[in-house]
Amino acid sequence: EVEIVVKQKPPPFLNGKSSSLREISPVRVIKNPEGSLNRSAMNGSDLLKERKELKKGLRPEINNKVSEWKDSIKNDSYGKPTTKNLQEQRESLPVFSMKKMLLETIKNNKFVVIVGETGSGKTTQITQYLAQEGFNKGNMIIGCTQPRRVAAVSVAKRVSEEVGCRLGQEVGYTIRFEDNTSDVTKIKYMTDGMLQREAMMDKMLSKYSVIMLDEAHERTIATDVLFVLLKTAAMKRDDLKIIVTSATLDSGKFSSYFENCPIVQIPGRTFPVEIFYTKEPELDYLQATLECVLSIHKNESRGDILVFLTGQEEIDTCCEVLYEKLIDLHQENELIILPIYSSLPSEMQSKIFEPTPVGKRKVIIATNIAETSITIDGIYYVIDPGFVKVNAYDPKLGMDSLMVTPISQAQAKQRAGRAGRTGPGKCFRLYTETGYNKEMLPNSIPEIQRQNLSHTILMLKAMGIQDLIGFEFMDPPPLKTMLSALEELYNLEALTEDGDLTELGHRMADFPMDPGLAKVLIKSIEFGCSEEMLSIVSMLSVQSIFYRPTGELRKKADEKRVRFNHPHGDHMTMLNVYEKWVRNGSSKEWCKDNFIHYRSLLRVRDVRIQLKKIMNKYGSEMRSCGQNSNLIRINLCCGFFKNTAKKDSETSCYKTLLENTTVYLHPSSSLFGKSSSEYVIYHTLLLTTKEYMHCVSVIEPTWLVEQAPRFFAKADTEQVNKRKRTVKIQPLYNRFDQQQSWRLSKR
Ligand code: CDP
Ligand code: MG
Repeated sequence: EVEIVVKQKPPPFLNGKSSSLREISPVRVIKNPEGSLNRSAMNGSDLLKERKELKKGLRPEINNKVSEWKDSIKNDSYGKPTTKNLQEQRESLPVFSMKKMLLETIKNNKFVVIVGETGSGKTTQITQYLAQEGFNKGNMIIGCTQPRRVAAVSVAKRVSEEVGCRLGQEVGYTIRFEDNTSDVTKIKYMTDGMLQREAMMDKMLSKYSVIMLDEAHERTIATDVLFVLLKTAAMKRDDLKIIVTSATLDSGKFSSYFENCPIVQIPGRTFPVEIFYTKEPELDYLQATLECVLSIHKNESRGDILVFLTGQEEIDTCCEVLYEKLIDLHQENELIILPIYSSLPSEMQSKIFEPTPVGKRKVIIATNIAETSITIDGIYYVIDPGFVKVNAYDPKLGMDSLMVTPISQAQAKQRAGRAGRTGPGKCFRLYTETGYNKEMLPNSIPEIQRQNLSHTILMLKAMGIQDLIGFEFMDPPPLKTMLSALEELYNLEALTEDGDLTELGHRMADFPMDPGLAKVLIKSIEFGCSEEMLSIVSMLSVQSIFYRPTGELRKKADEKRVRFNHPHGDHMTMLNVYEKWVRNGSSKEWCKDNFIHYRSLLRVRDVRIQLKKIMNKYGSEMRSCGQNSNLIRINLCCGFFKNTAKKDSETSCYKTLLENTTVYLHPSSSLFGKSSSEYVIYHTLLLTTKEYMHCVSVIEPTWLVEQAPRFFAKADTEQVNKRKRTVKIQPLYNRFDQQQSWRLSKR
């Protein structure tokens, strides 16, 4: 009988201050289940749930058509490149008329804020103007950050076409695990996360003469941190210009932060957009979306439709169901359905920019990437169900979780605006006007106030920034979020009892990823399983490995998938997939046979190479442990001990060890339906209809005590027995009193 307790107590350097997990956090506000919007988000869509059932009854000829269509949107190009030449197009953008004035203002000021509607040419044009004007003097670079990977790549591609160079030459991009720049690169697009990393190596950012912090209104953590770092660097360097661009009017705040710098407004060229609300709250927004698309297609004059959904699964399902409905209506050739989300291969993404053939209508089904990051011309209709998937730190769960929440009013306005770029448009909001007025926040909460900051704080510590509380954030994160990040780093042994970085902590900061993953990789050297852990961590960094086709093939795909399953869980299963692929010559054929996305595995391979390079920096020997699953899972415990849960004997769902929250195995897990897994460790928690654990493996509780001695201890049996007698409902632990820790028992 093994009994362990959570003994976590605040690290000594916090002097008794501790983040109370019980406090109200922004996440609680978002999650407030009262309103109709929240209820709808929590319920999820029956469409998704029923999908599996529905599939079985479908007619094979329809399934085949759907499969053909899915292949075709991946391969064929339906249109020709635009006829208007690039130069004419560039000169017709609103920003073009402002060129002289813009350059003048930038010349005379260290900081400039530029505000302009999405699609006015900020991202693609301003960097080119600066290069033409010689702002990249002495081999320096003009940098431009983007909050999203997809946007950085697609914009760099577009600008390289406009400049007339090969991508990666004069115009290039850098995103995590992928650097497409060269010695001759003058204009560099990158994710804000990558620039933050560069700032860690070189605080003065001496390679750059101008840095444009684009899409600043998105307020990602990296952009918020860069505000501080770039301001500091520019104050010390006379030859560095900082441009902050935003699509919203909230620019006064940016200007006052950057020494009351000038604000340049790019005149918009927008048309009125008529807004429609539903009379009653929609209980199933996916269903409502489909009906709305079909009704626009039937009743409205020509013009493309843009739909905002929350994620890949929803989008794929919606596309499929829509196509099936069109087949039934014999209209499948009239509507061109195009999905867009960030894990989509880039050729598929570029399709949305192709002009719609005459006599047809495009329906673009997108995540909120289409809200401001990318501009699609020709949209007359917007369908806005009112939701977005956000990554939020939930102090109750003690971790990040992805969840579907209502958007803010600002986002709703931005979405509606997408319909008025080419002509007067219409926006169909699938929520009530009361929902808009009463349940939506006026503005979204900046990421820094709702996410786990452990990675960010580790990087700042590695830069030698000691006074984190006094760090000049535009909107400081809640103190408790900072404290809980410090605690997390302490428990991971990245910080000493005095709050300084340990050697392990320094090394962890080298990895552009979650500190837990970084620790697992570094420790794998001692465990002698680095080759395996590199593969597993790389697999975890890439989305959607498996491909689930529609119709008859689905069963076959699922059967193939089961063959990779490892009895110890998903981490080993992923290792299996990667190793089998490599053993089969890393071939495309093999992927096709096994219903695996070839591209995803190519990316896994790239990520692996990059991570291996970082690990090689220390000259340690990388060893293989073969398929020693125990070693690998013990290794995982040293970074993810917080992400652990125990099966509840009565309900057979799981309860997290940390907070006793009920969580569930995701049906895609290789452990789903298996009974052997009493204690599990998981990679992420995804909050949709239920709190689902993703990527789950079986562990032994004693491993936790060994690998996280600051966090877990073997229980004092006498204590536990006494508590067992007196307490029916497990009390929540009180971290100020070690003795009161709640218990875990294994029968
Ligand atoms: O940054 P902002 O939203 O102000 O505009 P932009 O991204 O510079 O885009 C200006 C124009 O370039 C858009 O209206 C598109 O017509 C075009 N563009 C494109 O065709 N393909 C891309 N990948 C990016 C932009
Ligand atoms: Mg832009």
